[in-house]
Amino acid sequence: MPGYELWGAEERKELQDVLDNGILMRYGFDGPRKGIWKSKELENEICQTFGCKYAQLVSSGTAALTTAMGALGIGYGDEIIMPAFTFVASFEAVLSVGAIPVLVDVDDTLTLSPASVRAAITPKSKCIMPVHMCGSMADLDALKQICKEHNLILLEDACQSIGASYKGKQLGTIGDAGTFSFDFVKTMTCGEGGVVMTNREDVFVNSDGYSDHGHDHKGVDRGADLHPFIGYNFRISELHAAVGLAQIRRLKKILEIQKKNHTQLKSILAEVPEISFRRIPDPQGDSCTFLSWFLPTEAITRAVVAEMKAQNILAGNFYWYDNNWHYIRKWDHLKNGITLNALSTEHKAAVMHHANKDFSVSDAVLGRCISTAIGLLWTSEQISEKGEKIIAVIKKILKQNTVANA
Ligand SMILES: Cc1ncc(COP(=O)(O)O)c(C=O)c1O
Repeated sequence: MPGYELWGAEERKELQDVLDNGILMRYGFDGPRKGIWKSKELENEICQTFGCKYAQLVSSGTAALTTAMGALGIGYGDEIIMPAFTFVASFEAVLSVGAIPVLVDVDDTLTLSPASVRAAITPKSKCIMPVHMCGSMADLDALKQICKEHNLILLEDACQSIGASYKGKQLGTIGDAGTFSFDFVKTMTCGEGGVVMTNREDVFVNSDGYSDHGHDHKGVDRGADLHPFIGYNFRISELHAAVGLAQIRRLKKILEIQKKNHTQLKSILAEVPEISFRRIPDPQGDSCTFLSWFLPTEAITRAVVAEMKAQNILAGNFYWYDNNWHYIRKWDHLKNGITLNALSTEHKAAVMHHANKDFSVSDAVLGRCISTAIGLLWTSEQISEKGEKIIAVIKKILKQNTVANA
């Protein structure tokens, strides 16, 4: 997820504007900032680029999720249905507003299985939160239908899918709210940062206040602002927004390169009939940040991963099944309900219950999945070389497997 791979004079110029006037905060200081409002400018560009009415920048993708949940009125005891394959931030945000992460299985889209979502609905369900993992989307038509039937909120965690779309609409702009992360390894980066996008004015006004101590931002005197509700400080700085401005202007190019490199690598891996690829509900909308592929069994996949490691070609290829950050299998802190701030007995029990369910359906998907991160700086020759090395490993393991089973 490589915005940082393209860094140059444009980022330095935007940063220099902020350094020159010395106003690093996004609010206030109207005179000294001499018309430089990088955060506001970036919010406007986000609305135009992704096609949403409102954008509220914040300090991270995690802060964006927390802010969106607060703004949507999600809170104590509410159940949020979300996938067991995501990044820990998704459930951290749920816990931070006092809600319960109801983890459910993913399918071969690597995102929420609509059938598992349906099975998880209870009277306490408040929200469905698909996580558009690894650059591509969940089955949003199916999820929207479930939301409609059960009067649930749709909150898209699109932190990993900047620039991907579903049936012509950008991910993150389709639900009641959606979020991006602009951390250092995302498709475009601010260094650190995130955004809440929405088409609902109420959600935007709430996000604006929630992320800045509840300020109503109605006048020019910050000290005279009213506080219609309690908020927190999830503000982005002007320095981070400045980097994001330069990066968003590169986004089209970034996506073009990703698609080209993804297509070339996929065509090489597709030569091996035993390889299948992640199902993409709208293939046109894939941002192509990753190429995710499956092998026939977990044992073969493990052997391929081990051989790639032995041959020193594993870097950039992710076996999420064993990953500490992204999959339920290794989230012992969640399974054991370990928090520094005490949870109520009831809340802790609910959290632990949902984290300790059977995820064998997801295991069967992720145990066979490898995701290859697509580089922007790869040459065509390097892609051919990478692809050929990977398929040589796979063929070797498949052959060993056939011999062993003969
Ligand atoms: C799916 C997902 N959600 C949320 C986040 C949190 O973003 P941040 O690192 O900006 O807090 C990430 C970051 O990797 C992510 O991958």
